[in-house]
Amino acid sequence: MDGVNVIDHPLVQHKLTIMRKKETSTAGFRRLLREISMLLCYEVTRDLELTLETIETPLVEMKAPIVEGKKLVFVSILRAGNGLLEGMLELVPSARVSHIGLYRDHDTLQPVEYYFKAPDDLDERLLIVVDPMLATGNSSIAAVHKLKERGAKNIRFLCLLAAPEGIRNFQEAHPDVKIYTASIDSHLNEKGYIVPGLGDAGDRMYGTK
Ligand code: URA
Repeated sequence: MDGVNVIDHPLVQHKLTIMRKKETSTAGFRRLLREISMLLCYEVTRDLELTLETIETPLVEMKAPIVEGKKLVFVSILRAGNGLLEGMLELVPSARVSHIGLYRDHDTLQPVEYYFKAPDDLDERLLIVVDPMLATGNSSIAAVHKLKERGAKNIRFLCLLAAPEGIRNFQEAHPDVKIYTASIDSHLNEKGYIVPGLGDAGDRMYGTK
């Protein structure tokens, strides 16, 4: 699909298959999510600009590459986003972190924000918004709207699985935000679950029902 970067690295695909299995335990699921999030983070940051810094090795002075610009912001859409966040922070420990909490109003079915915390200078940073499942896209779309309202201009969206319906909705709302995912699954079922999917990502990582 246009505008979607499917991360087809063999290790990502292998780990994802184990995560999908219904018999995978909570502990196993959590460990795999941590591992896979590092690999996904590696891919989503692959084209970051570098600049040269003059440093001294024990032998000589040299110009060595470092990542240019202000620290990245990882934005976790609560609660399942936190599962991706953990591994990403291991890879980029200096990243800033934003949390967005949204729940679905029973009557309107629209996402309602209950928590928002982010650095002030979003306009000067690259933001990577994370949520394991891009299903209808409603919460991710609302989260990105909110970040743009707060000035964000440079945003990427990273998930584990995406449904074609969610991708379409998201791209319609935010054509400027590139989507990164490990898989585009078949469809959404009548309850809004991704099929074949992996079930409820939050429940699987936290052992709830
Ligand atoms: N959220 C989940 O956790 N799983 C789905 O399949 C869809 C949305």
